[in-house]
Amino acid sequence: MRIVVTAGPTREPIDPVRFISNRSSGKMGYAIAEAACEARHQVTLISGPVAIDAPPNAKIVKITTSDELYEAVHQHVPACDVLVMCAAVSDYKPAQAATRKLEKQTREFALRLTPTRDILASLADENRSYLVVGFAAETHDLAVSAEEKLVRKHCDVIIANDVSGRDSGMESDDNEITIFFRDRDPIHISRARKKIIARKILKIVCESLEKRLTKKT
Ligand code: C5P
Repeated sequence: MRIVVTAGPTREPIDPVRFISNRSSGKMGYAIAEAACEARHQVTLISGPVAIDAPPNAKIVKITTSDELYEAVHQHVPACDVLVMCAAVSDYKPAQAATRKLEKQTREFALRLTPTRDILASLADENRSYLVVGFAAETHDLAVSAEEKLVRKHCDVIIANDVSGRDSGMESDDNEITIFFRDRDPIHISRARKKIIARKILKIVCESLEKRLTKKT
C-alpha cells in the first residue's frame, strides 16, 4: 500500500520572525507513518515543523505553511492508495505577511486574518482512486462535529479525538479516539500510547481500503 501521511502544525507568517501556529507535536502522524513503515508499506510523510525524528524508511516532504501543505498534498495524492490527513492545519493566516519585521507598538493593533484553503475539501470527492482519512480534534460535541466533517470534507473516515484535557490528544504521548465511517458504526479506541493507537488505525484503514477495492471489482 502507498500511504501519504501529513503531520504536525503549519506556520503562517506574520513577518520574517513571527508566525501563527498551534500546539500540534506531530506525534500522532509520525506514529502512523512509523507503523506503516513497520508493516512495509510505502510511506510519504508530509511534515510541518516538529521536534521528533522521522521513521528512516519514510520519504519526508517538509512544509511550513498551509499553502505549501496544500501543494504537497495535491502533488502526492494521485500516486497513493491512502491519504491520512493528520496535520493540524492553521485555519487562518495573516491577510498579508510583512516583508520586514514589524516594529513593536505601544498601542493595541489588529492583525487581519484570512481563512486558509481547506485541503481535504479541495480534493475530488467522486471517482478518486485513494481512501481519505481525516482527523478532527474537538473540545466539545465530538460525534456531531466529526459526522459533519466526514461529509463536508469529503472523507471516507474521520478520526476524532477530544483535545479538551492535557492527558491525551495534542502534545501528549497518549490518545483516545473514535473512528467514524460513511457506511458503518463508529469504533472507539480507549486511551493508549499513540504508537499503539497508530497500529490499530492502520489495521482499520487497511480493512477499509480492502472493502472499498472489493466493492469496485
Ligand atoms: O475543521 P478541522 O480543522 O477540525 O478539520 C480537521 C481535518 O481537516 C484534519 O484532517 C486536517 O488535516 C484537515 N484540514 C485541512 N485543511 C485545512 C484545515 C484542516 O485539510 N485548512
